[in-house]
Amino acid sequence: MILNEWRRHNVKRHEIHVRLDDNTAATSPVSRSYKIHVGDEILQHIGDLVRNDNVQRAVVVSDQSINESHGHTVTRSLEAASITVDRLSIPSGEASKSLVESERLWNEFARLEIDRKTAILAVGGGVVGDLTGFVAATFSRGLRVWQIPTTLVAQVDSAIGGKTGVNLPAGKNLVGAFWQPRGVVADINTLNSLPDREYVSGLAEVVKYGMILDPDFFQWLENNANLIRGRDKESLNHVVRRSAELKTFVVERDEREITGLRACLNYGHTFAHAFETTTGYGTLLHGEAVSLGMMAAVRLACSLSLLDQTVVERQQKLLESLGLPVATPVLNNINTDDFLKIMARDKKTVGGNLRFVLPDKIGHVKTMDDIDCILVTSAIKTVCCVV
Ligand SMILES: NC(=O)c1ccc[n+]([C@@H]2O[C@H](COP(=O)([O-])OP(=O)(O)OC[C@H]3O[C@@H](n4cnc5c(N)ncnc54)[C@H](O)[C@@H]3O)[C@@H](O)[C@H]2O)c1
Ligand SMILES: [Zn+2]
Repeated sequence: MILNEWRRHNVKRHEIHVRLDDNTAATSPVSRSYKIHVGDEILQHIGDLVRNDNVQRAVVVSDQSINESHGHTVTRSLEAASITVDRLSIPSGEASKSLVESERLWNEFARLEIDRKTAILAVGGGVVGDLTGFVAATFSRGLRVWQIPTTLVAQVDSAIGGKTGVNLPAGKNLVGAFWQPRGVVADINTLNSLPDREYVSGLAEVVKYGMILDPDFFQWLENNANLIRGRDKESLNHVVRRSAELKTFVVERDEREITGLRACLNYGHTFAHAFETTTGYGTLLHGEAVSLGMMAAVRLACSLSLLDQTVVERQQKLLESLGLPVATPVLNNINTDDFLKIMARDKKTVGGNLRFVLPDKIGHVKTMDDIDCILVTSAIKTVCCVV
């Protein structure tokens, strides 16, 4: 009975090693490898983890909406480990990923007279992680940063891999740096407070990992969709852990998007970015656009005879059972020529040619260039209205 209680309330904790030293040992005296800690109730122990990194002083930068909850837990844990803490908060929302907010943080860091021994802890979703990572990368030519992701998107994607940055009026993520964290702490308990739409949206990236890299994981998602949808703790722990492992697999082999492997993470994204742009940012959440983008991509793959209809149906069924959109009236009145133009401008295209990451079976993708625009347009039309 006691054992059952324990199992029900505590899930296993895992450490995932991100190994990045081989390609930088000559240029960096400090190890750039780090661990991702996944589990529940681990925010409470963050002080010990950071202290073990020889840190005596820290600045906690957290999303305003969770400053008093998770931000406070992190601060208490650091203080309990005898680390001196200052706290800063960031207004919630994508607008904070800006140079204005960066400058405010740089000035706050200067006011606090922090030095290179100070650790920065980014507590929040992808917005706080990307912004704080960028500010940490640039202040004093680089401060140690810990990523403490509190959204599903951040736990399975943005906190891992060292891409940091801010937006310009001309486009998203145009200014930034690769800056790996000293560690990542993904406490799945923080996801309990996430609004449902945000939570479901994050699941699109999870389905993406199954489609591009891991057929067994895809099947596990199919078998456990209801539990995942209901945020069952054990299931959620596996979702975050396996996704983090798969992202790590890619980042370790192509940290700076040079070999082309990291590009597989763009599955569904060329379409998704165009959907987000044409509908205006905020109409569709990113994960919703990715879900629609993956449906357009898998149908495009099918029309190119890369795979058969059963794969299309399995992906559609999984996305639907997780509560993600597979077609939407929001895209009904959009001009497909505009889509094509926007996709051609996407920075992931090469020389203006449309380039897509397309599956040829579940768990495997390839990059395809020079695809007939008519097929692309037909694929887009399939997600333009509720069918
Ligand atoms: N660096 C990368 O590799 C990478 C990868 C994917 C996405 N991103 C970036 O991540 C950003 C999106 O991240 P996001 O989806 O986490 O958005 P977000 O950071 O805006 O968080 C979404 C919302 O959830 C709230 N929130 C955060 N944690 C919460 C919690 N535990 N409980 C309740 N509410 C909470 C936030 O206040 C916000 O309103 C985008 O800017 C995107 O460009 C970066
Ligand atoms: Zn994405």
